Amino acid sequence: MNLFDLSGKVCIVTGGAQGIGYAISRDLISHGATVYIVDLNPEVGKEAARTLGAHFKTLNVTDSGQIATVFSEIVQEAGQVDVLVNNAGIVRNTPAENTPDAEWDTIMQVNLTGVFACCRTIGMHMLQRGQGSIINIASMSGIISNHPQPQAAYNTSKAGVIMLSKSLAGEWAAKGVRVNAIAPGYVATPLTKKGMETDEWREVWLSTIPMGRLAEPEEIGPGVVYLASQASSYVTGSVLTIDGGYTVW
Ligand SMILES: NC(=O)c1ccc[n+]([C@@H]2O[C@H](COP(=O)([O-])OP(=O)(O)OC[C@H]3O[C@@H](n4cnc5c(N)ncnc54)[C@H](O)[C@@H]3O)[C@@H](O)[C@H]2O)c1
Repeated sequence: MNLFDLSGKVCIVTGGAQGIGYAISRDLISHGATVYIVDLNPEVGKEAARTLGAHFKTLNVTDSGQIATVFSEIVQEAGQVDVLVNNAGIVRNTPAENTPDAEWDTIMQVNLTGVFACCRTIGMHMLQRGQGSIINIASMSGIISNHPQPQAAYNTSKAGVIMLSKSLAGEWAAKGVRVNAIAPGYVATPLTKKGMETDEWREVWLSTIPMGRLAEPEEIGPGVVYLASQASSYVTGSVLTIDGGYTVW
C-alpha cells in the first residue's frame, strides 16, 4: 500500500496560479489527486491549470460570498473535497511606523481572514463527511521576525495562521478533520524576487540561512503531499518548517 497515494482525492489549492501553489498543485496531481486551482489571477491561473491538467476557478479569498459559491460549485462538480491547501498570500515591506491602516487590513484579509473563511466553508463540508485534511501555508515569519526587511503585518498574519491551524485542529480532531500548517523559509518565487534583487537583503538572507540558499518551490510540495495523505493520519495541529534550517539560529 502506498500511503502517499492521493488517487480519488479532490484538492483545492488557493493561489495556485504560480510560485509555491503551482508546485504544490503539480505534486498533488503527480500523486493521483484531482486539483482545483483557485486564484485571483485568471490569466495565469488558467494557463497553469492547462499545463498541469488541473481545473481552474477565479476566486478572491477576501470575499467570503465568493468562497461559498466557488467551493459549492467544486463540491457539485467533483462530488467532494478531501484536501484544502490555503496558499494564497501577499507581502508588503513597509516600516511599522509608516504602515497605513488600509495596508495592514489588506494583508490580514488575504493572509489570515481569507484562510479562516476558506477553512470555515470547506470545514463544514468536511465535518459533514467526517474526513478531510487542511494544510495552511504559513511561513517561518510566523515563528521568527525576518530581517533586514520590515514586514510586521505579514509576520503577524502568519503567526495568526499557525495559531488558527492549531485551534481548528483541536476543534475538529475528533470529527475526522485534520488541520496542519507548513512554515516555509525563503522560497525562490515572484514574492522574494525584489528581495533577491536588493543587495543588502540578499546578503543578509543568504548568510542567515544555514543551508546558504533559498528553497525551490518544488521543495515545499512534498510536505503538502505528506500532510494530505494517509501517511500523516495521526498528524494534526503540527507546523512543518521547511526552511533550510533558518529557525535553528
Ligand atoms: N516565497 C517565499 O519565500 C515564501 C516563504 C514563506 C511563505 N510563503 C507563503 O507561501 C504562499 C505562496 O507564496 P508564493 O511565494 O508562491 O507567492 P506568489 O506571489 O508567487 O503567488 C501567490 C499567488 O496567490 C495569488 N493571490 C494573491 N492574492 C490572492 C487573493 N486575494 N485571492 C486568491 N489568490 C490570491 C496570486 O495571484 C498568486 O498566484 C504565500 O502564502 C506566502 O506567504 C512564501
